[in-house]
Amino acid sequence: MPANTVINTLKSISPNSLHHAGYLAVAKTRAKALHAFALVVPIPRPQLFIGEQSCYELCDMMINEGATNILIVTDAVLNQLGIPEKVTAYLEEKNIRYHLFDGITPDPTFSVVEEGLRHSVDNNCDAILALGGGSVIDASKIIAISQATKRKPQKLMGLLKASKCMPLYCIPTTAGTGSEATLGAVISDDATHQKSLSIDPRMVPLASAVDPAIMKGMPPHITADTGVDVLTHALEAWMSANASSETDYYAASATRTVMQYLPLAYKDGSDLKAREEMGVAAHYGGIAFNKAGLGYVHAIAHQLGAIYGIPHGRANAIVLPHILDVNCDVSKHRLATLAKKAGIVDAAHANAEDGKLADHLVAEVRALIKSLNIDVTVKGINPADFKKIAKGAAKEVSDTYAVPRYLTQAQIVDVLNKIKADSDAVAK
Ligand SMILES: [Fe+2]
Repeated sequence: MPANTVINTLKSISPNSLHHAGYLAVAKTRAKALHAFALVVPIPRPQLFIGEQSCYELCDMMINEGATNILIVTDAVLNQLGIPEKVTAYLEEKNIRYHLFDGITPDPTFSVVEEGLRHSVDNNCDAILALGGGSVIDASKIIAISQATKRKPQKLMGLLKASKCMPLYCIPTTAGTGSEATLGAVISDDATHQKSLSIDPRMVPLASAVDPAIMKGMPPHITADTGVDVLTHALEAWMSANASSETDYYAASATRTVMQYLPLAYKDGSDLKAREEMGVAAHYGGIAFNKAGLGYVHAIAHQLGAIYGIPHGRANAIVLPHILDVNCDVSKHRLATLAKKAGIVDAAHANAEDGKLADHLVAEVRALIKSLNIDVTVKGINPADFKKIAKGAAKEVSDTYAVPRYLTQAQIVDVLNKIKADSDAVAK
Protein backbone atom coordinates (compact mmCIF):
# COMPACT_ATOMS: atom_id res chain seq x y z
CA MET A 1 0.00 0.00 0.00
CA PRO A 2 1.52 3.41 -0.91
CA ALA A 3 2.46 5.61 2.06
CA ASN A 4 -0.14 8.31 1.25
CA THR A 5 -2.96 5.75 1.11
CA VAL A 6 -1.94 4.34 4.47
CA ILE A 7 -1.79 7.77 6.08
CA ASN A 8 -5.13 8.85 4.61
CA THR A 9 -6.72 5.61 5.84
CA LEU A 10 -5.44 6.25 9.36
CA LYS A 11 -6.62 9.86 9.29
CA SER A 12 -10.07 9.09 7.90
CA ILE A 13 -11.16 6.03 9.90
CA SER A 14 -12.27 6.56 13.43
CA PRO A 15 -14.66 4.56 15.56
CA ASN A 16 -18.13 6.02 15.13
CA SER A 17 -20.25 3.14 16.27
CA LEU A 18 -20.84 1.88 19.76
CA HIS A 19 -22.16 -1.35 18.29
CA HIS A 20 -19.45 -3.93 18.93
CA ALA A 21 -19.47 -5.43 15.41
CA GLY A 22 -19.08 -1.98 13.82
CA TYR A 23 -16.45 -1.04 16.35
CA LEU A 24 -14.56 -4.25 15.66
CA ALA A 25 -14.51 -3.69 11.90
CA VAL A 26 -13.19 -0.13 12.31
CA ALA A 27 -10.63 -1.19 14.92
CA LYS A 28 -9.31 -4.05 12.77
CA THR A 29 -9.06 -1.83 9.66
CA ARG A 30 -7.11 0.78 11.60
CA ALA A 31 -4.85 -1.95 13.05
CA LYS A 32 -4.06 -3.14 9.51
CA ALA A 33 -3.36 0.44 8.38
CA LEU A 34 -1.06 0.91 11.40
CA HIS A 35 0.80 -2.23 10.40
CA ALA A 36 1.17 -0.92 6.85
CA PHE A 37 2.28 2.45 8.29
CA ALA A 38 5.12 0.73 10.19
CA LEU A 39 6.14 -1.01 6.96
CA VAL A 40 6.01 1.92 4.52
CA VAL A 41 7.03 4.89 6.69
CA PRO A 42 10.68 4.57 7.70
CA ILE A 43 11.17 4.99 11.45
CA PRO A 44 14.71 6.12 12.28
CA ARG A 45 16.63 4.60 15.19
CA PRO A 46 18.58 6.83 17.59
CA GLN A 47 22.32 6.31 17.99
CA LEU A 48 22.61 4.55 21.36
CA PHE A 49 25.46 5.19 23.83
CA ILE A 50 25.68 2.95 26.89
CA GLY A 51 27.64 3.22 30.14
CA GLU A 52 29.08 5.76 32.54
CA GLN A 53 30.93 7.59 29.75
CA SER A 54 27.90 7.61 27.48
CA CYS A 55 26.68 11.11 28.29
CA TYR A 56 30.11 12.47 27.29
CA GLU A 57 29.93 10.52 24.03
CA LEU A 58 26.50 12.03 23.43
CA CYS A 59 27.85 15.55 24.11
CA ASP A 60 30.71 14.92 21.67
CA MET A 61 28.20 13.84 19.03
CA MET A 62 26.15 17.02 19.56
CA ILE A 63 29.28 19.15 19.19
CA ASN A 64 30.47 17.22 16.12
CA GLU A 65 27.09 17.68 14.50
CA GLY A 66 27.35 21.45 14.89
CA ALA A 67 25.52 22.29 18.13
CA THR A 68 26.86 25.58 19.49
CA ASN A 69 24.13 26.62 21.91
CA ILE A 70 22.15 23.82 23.52
CA LEU A 71 18.81 24.03 25.31
CA ILE A 72 18.97 21.51 28.17
CA VAL A 73 15.38 20.60 29.08
CA THR A 74 14.79 19.09 32.52
CA ASP A 75 12.59 19.39 35.61
CA ALA A 76 13.07 21.30 38.87
CA VAL A 77 13.60 18.18 41.03
CA LEU A 78 16.38 16.82 38.83
CA ASN A 79 17.96 20.28 38.69
CA GLN A 80 17.86 20.62 42.50
CA LEU A 81 19.50 17.21 42.80
CA GLY A 82 22.31 18.47 40.54
CA ILE A 83 21.71 15.76 37.90
CA PRO A 84 22.47 18.06 34.92
CA GLU A 85 25.91 18.96 36.35
CA LYS A 86 27.66 15.96 34.79
CA VAL A 87 26.64 17.30 31.38
CA THR A 88 26.94 21.04 32.00
CA ALA A 89 30.47 20.67 33.45
CA TYR A 90 31.53 18.77 30.32
CA LEU A 91 29.98 21.35 27.97
CA GLU A 92 31.73 24.17 29.88
CA GLU A 93 35.02 22.29 29.56
CA LYS A 94 34.41 22.15 25.79
CA ASN A 95 33.41 25.86 25.65
CA ILE A 96 29.93 25.03 24.36
CA ARG A 97 27.13 27.40 25.36
CA TYR A 98 23.96 26.02 26.89
CA HIS A 99 20.76 27.30 28.44
CA LEU A 100 19.05 25.24 31.11
CA PHE A 101 15.24 25.15 31.30
CA ASP A 102 13.93 23.19 34.31
CA GLY A 103 10.23 23.98 34.01
CA ILE A 104 8.88 20.62 32.84
CA THR A 105 6.15 19.18 35.08
CA PRO A 106 4.70 15.64 35.11
CA ASP A 107 2.15 15.17 32.28
CA PRO A 108 3.33 18.44 30.66
CA THR A 109 0.71 20.82 29.30
CA PHE A 110 0.85 23.03 26.21
CA SER A 111 1.71 26.08 28.34
CA VAL A 112 4.72 24.19 29.81
CA VAL A 113 5.88 23.31 26.29
CA GLU A 114 5.36 26.91 25.14
CA GLU A 115 7.49 28.20 28.02
CA GLY A 116 10.30 25.82 27.03
CA LEU A 117 9.92 26.91 23.42
CA ARG A 118 10.26 30.58 24.46
CA HIS A 119 13.51 29.76 26.31
CA SER A 120 14.88 28.02 23.23
CA VAL A 121 13.88 30.73 20.75
CA ASP A 122 14.84 33.69 22.98
CA ASN A 123 18.28 32.18 23.57
CA ASN A 124 18.83 31.24 19.91
CA CYS A 125 19.40 27.59 20.80
CA ASP A 126 20.35 25.33 17.89
CA ALA A 127 19.97 21.88 19.53
CA ILE A 128 17.89 20.37 22.31
CA LEU A 129 19.04 17.94 24.99
CA ALA A 130 16.24 16.29 26.96
CA LEU A 131 17.53 15.24 30.40
CA GLY A 132 14.76 13.55 32.35
CA GLY A 133 11.96 11.01 32.25
CA GLY A 134 9.16 10.57 29.75
CA SER A 135 7.53 13.94 30.48
CA VAL A 136 10.76 15.82 29.81
CA ILE A 137 11.47 13.85 26.63
CA ASP A 138 7.92 14.22 25.27
CA ALA A 139 7.89 17.98 25.94
CA SER A 140 11.34 18.31 24.33
CA LYS A 141 10.12 16.57 21.18
CA ILE A 142 7.31 19.08 20.76
CA ILE A 143 9.61 22.03 21.54
CA ALA A 144 12.00 20.70 18.87
CA ILE A 145 9.37 20.36 16.11
CA SER A 146 7.62 23.59 17.11
CA GLN A 147 10.81 25.65 16.92
CA ALA A 148 11.84 24.03 13.62
CA THR A 149 8.46 24.47 11.93
CA LYS A 150 7.55 27.79 13.62
CA ARG A 151 4.13 26.30 14.37
CA LYS A 152 2.29 26.34 17.69
CA PRO A 153 2.54 23.07 19.66
CA GLN A 154 -1.25 22.64 19.52
CA LYS A 155 -1.07 22.57 15.71
CA LEU A 156 1.45 19.74 15.79
CA MET A 157 -0.75 17.14 17.48
CA GLY A 158 -1.88 14.21 15.35
CA LEU A 159 -0.28 12.15 12.63
CA LEU A 160 2.71 13.39 10.62
CA LYS A 161 2.33 17.11 11.38
CA ALA A 162 6.04 17.94 11.66
CA SER A 163 7.85 18.73 8.42
CA LYS A 164 11.15 19.16 10.31
CA CYS A 165 12.72 18.91 13.76
CA MET A 166 15.59 20.61 15.60
CA PRO A 167 18.54 18.32 16.39
CA LEU A 168 17.23 16.45 19.44
CA TYR A 169 19.23 14.30 21.91
CA CYS A 170 18.21 12.46 25.10
CA ILE A 171 19.63 11.34 28.40
CA PRO A 172 16.82 9.42 30.15
CA THR A 173 16.90 9.60 33.95
CA THR A 174 14.37 6.80 34.40
CA ALA A 175 14.28 3.35 32.84
CA GLY A 176 10.66 3.42 31.81
CA THR A 177 8.87 5.15 28.96
CA GLY A 178 11.39 4.41 26.22
CA SER A 179 10.31 7.77 24.78
CA GLU A 180 13.92 8.36 23.73
CA ALA A 181 13.39 5.65 21.08
CA THR A 182 9.87 6.46 19.91
CA LEU A 183 8.14 8.61 17.32
CA GLY A 184 5.39 9.88 19.64
CA ALA A 185 4.83 12.52 22.31
CA VAL A 186 1.86 13.12 24.62
CA ILE A 187 0.90 16.63 25.78
CA SER A 188 -2.03 17.57 28.05
CA ASP A 189 -4.53 20.37 27.58
CA ASP A 190 -4.13 23.04 30.30
CA ALA A 191 -7.83 23.30 31.08
CA THR A 192 -9.29 19.85 30.43
CA HIS A 193 -6.12 17.74 31.05
CA GLN A 194 -7.17 15.82 27.92
CA LYS A 195 -4.09 14.21 26.41
CA SER A 196 -3.12 14.73 22.76
CA LEU A 197 -0.73 12.52 20.87
CA SER A 198 1.68 13.65 18.18
CA ILE A 199 3.19 10.94 15.96
CA ASP A 200 5.96 11.69 13.49
CA PRO A 201 9.20 9.82 12.70
CA ARG A 202 10.94 13.19 12.43
CA MET A 203 10.79 13.61 16.20
CA VAL A 204 12.74 10.42 16.93
CA PRO A 205 15.85 11.72 18.74
CA LEU A 206 19.19 11.54 16.94
CA ALA A 207 20.89 9.87 19.90
CA SER A 208 20.32 8.68 23.43
CA ALA A 209 22.70 7.94 26.29
CA VAL A 210 21.92 5.24 28.85
CA ASP A 211 24.12 6.46 31.71
CA PRO A 212 23.58 4.27 34.82
CA ALA A 213 25.26 6.85 37.08
CA ILE A 214 22.57 9.38 36.14
CA MET A 215 19.83 6.83 36.95
CA LYS A 216 21.22 5.66 40.28
CA GLY A 217 19.48 8.37 42.35
CA MET A 218 16.01 7.21 41.27
CA PRO A 219 14.07 6.20 44.44
CA PRO A 220 12.90 2.56 44.77
CA HIS A 221 9.18 3.23 44.20
CA ILE A 222 9.91 5.10 40.95
CA THR A 223 12.36 2.38 39.90
CA ALA A 224 9.54 -0.15 40.47
CA ASP A 225 6.79 1.84 38.70
CA THR A 226 8.89 2.76 35.66
CA GLY A 227 10.36 -0.74 35.47
CA VAL A 228 6.88 -2.27 35.24
CA ASP A 229 6.15 0.26 32.47
CA VAL A 230 9.07 -1.27 30.53
CA LEU A 231 7.69 -4.77 31.12
CA THR A 232 4.23 -3.66 29.98
CA HIS A 233 5.64 -2.16 26.75
CA ALA A 234 7.44 -5.42 26.06
CA LEU A 235 4.45 -7.67 26.84
CA GLU A 236 1.92 -5.57 24.93
CA ALA A 237 4.24 -5.32 21.90
CA TRP A 238 4.78 -9.09 22.11
CA MET A 239 1.03 -9.86 22.21
CA SER A 240 0.19 -7.31 19.49
CA ALA A 241 -1.33 -8.55 16.24
CA ASN A 242 1.21 -6.26 14.53
CA ALA A 243 4.26 -7.88 16.17
CA SER A 244 7.08 -8.83 13.80
CA SER A 245 10.32 -10.77 14.10
CA GLU A 246 12.08 -7.44 14.72
CA THR A 247 9.71 -6.23 17.47
CA ASP A 248 9.71 -9.74 18.97
CA TYR A 249 13.48 -9.62 19.37
CA TYR A 250 13.37 -6.35 21.30
CA ALA A 251 10.26 -7.29 23.32
CA ALA A 252 11.70 -10.64 24.42
CA SER A 253 15.05 -9.09 25.27
CA ALA A 254 13.37 -6.34 27.35
CA THR A 255 11.19 -8.92 29.15
CA ARG A 256 14.18 -11.11 30.01
CA THR A 257 16.13 -8.11 31.31
CA VAL A 258 13.29 -6.73 33.43
CA MET A 259 12.60 -10.10 35.07
CA GLN A 260 16.29 -10.46 35.93
CA TYR A 261 17.42 -6.92 36.74
CA LEU A 262 14.41 -4.94 37.97
CA PRO A 263 14.44 -6.68 41.39
CA LEU A 264 18.17 -5.87 41.68
CA ALA A 265 17.78 -2.19 40.68
CA TYR A 266 14.84 -1.90 43.10
CA LYS A 267 16.78 -3.46 45.98
CA ASP A 268 20.00 -1.52 45.42
CA GLY A 269 19.68 1.68 43.40
CA SER A 270 23.45 2.03 43.20
CA ASP A 271 23.81 -1.31 41.36
CA LEU A 272 25.10 0.25 38.16
CA LYS A 273 24.98 -3.01 36.19
CA ALA A 274 21.26 -3.39 37.00
CA ARG A 275 20.62 0.31 36.19
CA GLU A 276 22.39 0.00 32.84
CA GLU A 277 20.54 -3.20 31.90
CA MET A 278 17.20 -1.60 32.81
CA GLY A 279 18.09 1.51 30.78
CA VAL A 280 18.77 -0.61 27.69
CA ALA A 281 15.59 -2.65 28.34
CA ALA A 282 13.55 0.58 28.42
CA HIS A 283 15.07 1.57 25.08
CA TYR A 284 14.33 -1.85 23.59
CA GLY A 285 10.77 -1.73 24.90
CA GLY A 286 10.37 1.63 23.13
CA ILE A 287 11.68 0.18 19.85
CA ALA A 288 9.26 -2.76 20.15
CA PHE A 289 6.09 -0.77 20.79
CA ASN A 290 7.08 1.93 18.30
CA LYS A 291 6.12 -0.54 15.56
CA ALA A 292 3.95 -3.18 17.24
CA GLY A 293 1.91 -0.79 19.42
CA LEU A 294 0.47 -1.36 22.88
CA GLY A 295 -2.92 -2.60 24.13
CA TYR A 296 -5.60 -2.59 26.82
CA VAL A 297 -3.17 -2.26 29.72
CA HIS A 298 -2.06 1.16 28.51
CA ALA A 299 -5.55 2.11 27.31
CA ILE A 300 -7.08 1.47 30.76
CA ALA A 301 -4.03 2.78 32.67
CA HIS A 302 -4.22 6.10 30.81
CA GLN A 303 -7.84 6.49 31.94
CA LEU A 304 -7.01 5.56 35.57
CA GLY A 305 -4.14 8.03 35.50
CA ALA A 306 -6.29 10.86 34.17
CA ILE A 307 -9.25 10.29 36.52
CA TYR A 308 -7.55 9.17 39.76
CA GLY A 309 -4.11 10.77 39.37
CA ILE A 310 -2.15 7.50 39.42
CA PRO A 311 1.40 7.64 38.00
CA HIS A 312 1.68 5.87 34.66
CA GLY A 313 3.91 2.96 35.69
CA ARG A 314 1.87 2.17 38.80
CA ALA A 315 -1.35 2.30 36.78
CA ASN A 316 0.16 -0.26 34.40
CA ALA A 317 1.15 -2.48 37.32
CA ILE A 318 -2.46 -2.35 38.56
CA VAL A 319 -3.97 -3.31 35.18
CA LEU A 320 -1.32 -5.63 33.69
CA PRO A 321 -2.12 -8.93 35.51
CA HIS A 322 -5.82 -8.62 34.63
CA ILE A 323 -5.22 -8.09 30.92
CA LEU A 324 -2.73 -10.97 30.90
CA ASP A 325 -5.55 -13.10 32.38
CA VAL A 326 -7.91 -11.85 29.64
CA ASN A 327 -5.40 -12.63 26.86
CA CYS A 328 -3.98 -15.80 28.38
CA ASP A 329 -6.12 -18.12 26.29
CA VAL A 330 -5.98 -16.33 22.91
CA SER A 331 -2.25 -15.55 23.34
CA LYS A 332 -1.44 -18.93 24.94
CA HIS A 333 1.12 -19.99 22.35
CA ARG A 334 2.73 -16.56 22.13
CA LEU A 335 3.05 -16.23 25.91
CA ALA A 336 4.45 -19.76 26.15
CA THR A 337 7.07 -18.89 23.53
CA LEU A 338 7.96 -15.72 25.42
CA ALA A 339 8.26 -17.63 28.70
CA LYS A 340 10.91 -19.81 27.04
CA LYS A 341 12.70 -16.99 25.17
CA ALA A 342 12.82 -14.72 28.22
CA GLY A 343 14.18 -17.44 30.51
CA ILE A 344 11.07 -17.49 32.68
CA VAL A 345 10.96 -21.30 32.53
CA ASP A 346 13.98 -23.51 32.98
CA ALA A 347 15.02 -26.18 30.46
CA ALA A 348 13.43 -28.95 32.54
CA HIS A 349 9.95 -27.46 32.05
CA ALA A 350 10.37 -26.12 28.50
CA ASN A 351 8.31 -28.97 27.02
CA ALA A 352 5.28 -28.32 29.17
CA GLU A 353 2.09 -27.53 27.27
CA ASP A 354 1.52 -23.93 26.16
CA GLY A 355 -1.31 -23.27 28.62
CA LYS A 356 0.87 -24.20 31.59
CA LEU A 357 3.80 -22.07 30.35
CA ALA A 358 1.52 -19.08 29.71
CA ASP A 359 -0.01 -19.43 33.20
CA HIS A 360 3.49 -19.64 34.65
CA LEU A 361 4.53 -16.40 32.91
CA VAL A 362 1.46 -14.58 34.24
CA ALA A 363 2.16 -15.90 37.76
CA GLU A 364 5.78 -14.71 37.54
CA VAL A 365 4.65 -11.22 36.46
CA ARG A 366 2.23 -11.10 39.43
CA ALA A 367 5.03 -12.24 41.77
CA LEU A 368 7.41 -9.59 40.39
CA ILE A 369 4.84 -6.80 40.94
CA LYS A 370 4.20 -8.06 44.48
CA SER A 371 7.93 -8.23 45.27
CA LEU A 372 8.29 -4.58 44.22
CA ASN A 373 5.71 -3.57 46.85
CA ILE A 374 3.70 -1.62 44.29
CA ASP A 375 0.56 -0.15 45.83
CA VAL A 376 -2.43 -1.48 43.87
CA THR A 377 -5.01 0.72 45.59
CA VAL A 378 -6.91 3.17 43.40
CA LYS A 379 -8.04 5.90 45.77
CA GLY A 380 -11.54 7.12 44.93
CA ILE A 381 -12.26 4.34 42.42
CA ASN A 382 -15.97 4.56 41.70
CA PRO A 383 -18.14 2.21 39.60
CA ALA A 384 -20.03 5.30 38.42
CA ASP A 385 -16.90 6.16 36.36
CA PHE A 386 -16.53 2.71 34.78
CA LYS A 387 -18.65 3.30 31.67
CA LYS A 388 -16.70 6.43 30.82
CA ILE A 389 -13.37 4.65 31.46
CA ALA A 390 -14.42 1.68 29.29
CA LYS A 391 -15.50 3.98 26.46
CA GLY A 392 -12.21 5.93 26.58
CA ALA A 393 -10.11 2.75 26.70
CA ALA A 394 -12.07 1.15 23.82
CA LYS A 395 -11.51 4.27 21.71
CA GLU A 396 -7.77 4.35 22.46
CA VAL A 397 -7.44 0.69 21.46
CA SER A 398 -9.41 1.19 18.27
CA ASP A 399 -7.51 4.35 17.32
CA THR A 400 -4.00 3.18 18.10
CA TYR A 401 -3.43 -0.51 18.82
CA ALA A 402 -3.69 -3.99 17.28
CA VAL A 403 -4.69 -6.19 20.20
CA PRO A 404 -4.92 -10.00 20.13
CA ARG A 405 -8.45 -9.94 21.53
CA TYR A 406 -10.97 -7.08 21.32
CA LEU A 407 -13.15 -6.51 24.37
CA THR A 408 -16.67 -5.15 24.59
CA GLN A 409 -17.14 -2.20 26.90
CA ALA A 410 -18.94 -4.56 29.33
CA GLN A 411 -15.84 -6.79 29.39
CA ILE A 412 -13.67 -3.74 30.16
CA VAL A 413 -16.04 -2.92 33.03
CA ASP A 414 -15.48 -6.50 34.30
CA VAL A 415 -11.73 -5.80 34.40
CA LEU A 416 -12.38 -2.55 36.28
CA ASN A 417 -14.47 -4.42 38.85
CA LYS A 418 -11.52 -6.76 39.44
CA ILE A 419 -9.18 -3.77 39.84
CA LYS A 420 -11.63 -2.32 42.39
CA ALA A 421 -11.76 -5.65 44.24
CA ASP A 422 -7.91 -5.71 44.46
CA SER A 423 -7.94 -2.11 45.67
CA ASP A 424 -10.65 -2.78 48.29
CA ALA A 425 -8.80 -5.90 49.52
CA VAL A 426 -5.66 -3.85 50.25
CA ALA A 427 -7.63 -1.03 51.87
CA LYS A 428 -9.26 -3.45 54.40
FE1 LIG B 1 4.00 3.13 29.09
